[in-house]
Amino acid sequence: MNIKIKSLNETSEKTKSYSRNKKQWLKKPDLPDTHIINTDIYTNPAIFDEEVSNIWHKVWLPICHESELPEILDYRTSSIAGNVPIVMVRGNDNKIRTFLNLCSHRNNIVVRSPAGSLKNAEPSGNSNYMTCMYHGWQFDAYGSCVEISREKAGYQDRLCKDKLGLREIKTEVGFGGMIWINMDDECGPLSEFVGNSLDLMKEQLDTEPLEIFLFQKSRVKCNYKLFFDTSREFYHDYLHFHNRQTSMVKPGYFDQEYSQFPNGHSVSGFTTVDYSSHQGSALRTLTFPGLPPNGWRHTTIFPAGAYNIRTSSLRVNVIMPISDRETLIEIRGFGLKRDTPEERALRIKDYVSVWGPFGWNLHEDLLCAQVQTQGIQKGSGAIWNIAAREEGNKVHDEVGVRAYYAEWSRLMRRSHSTENNI
Ligand SMILES: [Fe+2]
Repeated sequence: MNIKIKSLNETSEKTKSYSRNKKQWLKKPDLPDTHIINTDIYTNPAIFDEEVSNIWHKVWLPICHESELPEILDYRTSSIAGNVPIVMVRGNDNKIRTFLNLCSHRNNIVVRSPAGSLKNAEPSGNSNYMTCMYHGWQFDAYGSCVEISREKAGYQDRLCKDKLGLREIKTEVGFGGMIWINMDDECGPLSEFVGNSLDLMKEQLDTEPLEIFLFQKSRVKCNYKLFFDTSREFYHDYLHFHNRQTSMVKPGYFDQEYSQFPNGHSVSGFTTVDYSSHQGSALRTLTFPGLPPNGWRHTTIFPAGAYNIRTSSLRVNVIMPISDRETLIEIRGFGLKRDTPEERALRIKDYVSVWGPFGWNLHEDLLCAQVQTQGIQKGSGAIWNIAAREEGNKVHDEVGVRAYYAEWSRLMRRSHSTENNI
């Protein structure tokens, strides 16, 4: 099979120029609207504001993992689209609840990491009460306000604790023990949103408890959709030398099915990875329940979650837009909770060799999304992105990108391919 790109010393036989003048370049491509994207949706702050309310505050979002709050009264802070602060707490009934991390008094952030303190720099801990630093109001793990400093003296009978609890956010734990939240109080259950899209890896995720072993954060100068595009198509395996060596050369690679599911989710990964063909790769000996040796499974959850099981480790990406041009990407590595220390060390080694900061894959996606962002800045005049590959819903078909933007358009009630979107 041909995975070759022309080398620099090969000459082209053509002599005629097919470059375009400005008018030709700006012209909408002669393709169906479903197959093109107006780059305005990556650079327009007004569209970002609409995305926050129409998408990010309407759908279920994976946030973190239950093993990050293992004990009663453990808490963990995080944020959702647009930097909205939230806090998750495990109550003494063992249930994990999520609250908007804002005090009922003046909307000060309640649970915070003290600036400048390395020891307390982690956004997590264990506490009987969440105390607002501003005026000392306190809340418990159920979100109830349990203490107002000098309550009666100031509010008499006009305000009381019972009316001043935290804003609770719908929370469910599922699909490998991830903690999911939904800002919409009227939303349906998580299982309805995910549907059958994680069935392919159900055995790996839910046979026995998983445990987080690695957490990375990348703050990337790109629109969140541009990074997520790298999870929605596999044509860009050309970007990754490691993938070219271990996947693209394997017989059957181009025959892999790429399936789309309701609510914008997308599934691929029925293949195995051939580590022997990449110099420096150790052969994998560990796996997950029901996963064949060196197996690979991949599911993306709209709008920005990705489950990726690669032989001995699971990676879950949680992508949070900060603004139209900045994105926080949280990356977690998982093994089985019952791993021996030796097994865990091996899983971590396997994981970081591919997805670690100095690995063979993930940083290339991060770099590419930023480089692409430089290309489509307003000033460049670049208007059109193309997602038009049709290969019978196989691995290099861009059907996953088209399905993503179809769901985006449905929730936004606007086309992703209209000229002058605003
Ligand atoms: Fe990639």
